[in-house]
Amino acid sequence: METENGLFPQDQPVEGPDSAQSSQDEITAEIQDVHAAYRKGLEDGDAEETQPRLDFRPYRSSILRHPTKDPHHTDPETIELWSPAFGHQDVHALESDLTIQHNGEPLGERIVVAGRILDGDGRPVRNQLVEIWQANSAGRYIHKRDQHPAPIDPNFTGVGRCITDDDGNYSFTTIKPGPYPWKNHYNAWRPAHIHFSLFGTDFTQRMITQMYFPGDPLFSLDPIYQSITDQKARDRLVATYDHNLTQHEWSTGYNWDIVLTGSNRTWMEDEDAE
Ligand SMILES: [Fe+2]
Repeated sequence: METENGLFPQDQPVEGPDSAQSSQDEITAEIQDVHAAYRKGLEDGDAEETQPRLDFRPYRSSILRHPTKDPHHTDPETIELWSPAFGHQDVHALESDLTIQHNGEPLGERIVVAGRILDGDGRPVRNQLVEIWQANSAGRYIHKRDQHPAPIDPNFTGVGRCITDDDGNYSFTTIKPGPYPWKNHYNAWRPAHIHFSLFGTDFTQRMITQMYFPGDPLFSLDPIYQSITDQKARDRLVATYDHNLTQHEWSTGYNWDIVLTGSNRTWMEDEDAE
């Protein structure tokens, strides 16, 4: 999962003459142009999109690195179609609490993020490994190449995992991550997000996506979030504040369900993308 510069694949800065040259206004205008063209296409009968554009110009590095040819298709080996098994001994229940991994309490807003993982027919995806990773409350990842001047929290690493129960439920206790800068363009900031990895029901199904928080002022400015041209598909990446998950004198709660397949599926990163 770790990359050379500590940013995750979808957050990689642009290398080359374009890096940090564009202004936010230019990026925003480009996003709006692509979205306007998409909406016009919908009116003309084009199909609804649920996935991100792989060559989304406002997301600068996608221009050079998106696939230009259809990937080579192979039949999965039989072993890849077997369900991965993560026994309860292998994943400890305490690994879903990112606030207890060190000697002290991490700084920031303690939150519970919980929801269900479902297949396209609404059936729970049970006994599946869910992994998350995220920045700390100041927007800093623990990695030597994340050097932007926000503090590292010695009591927060930002990784956790759990196994879904029989109803497909997962739950994490963590700290609300902060937004952080990246080098797509001048003054580029990512909305606060938590990265999710899901194994699904066989080895060919692993999916990776991001969860966002409601009302983030950076949504309209972020070319990664906006590379999904369809508003409804973007909305599915945003958690809902859930007062029933909020715990008295302890933490606020967010609900986020993930649908792996079908027309309401949650957008997932292409597994072939870098
Ligand atoms: Fe990130």
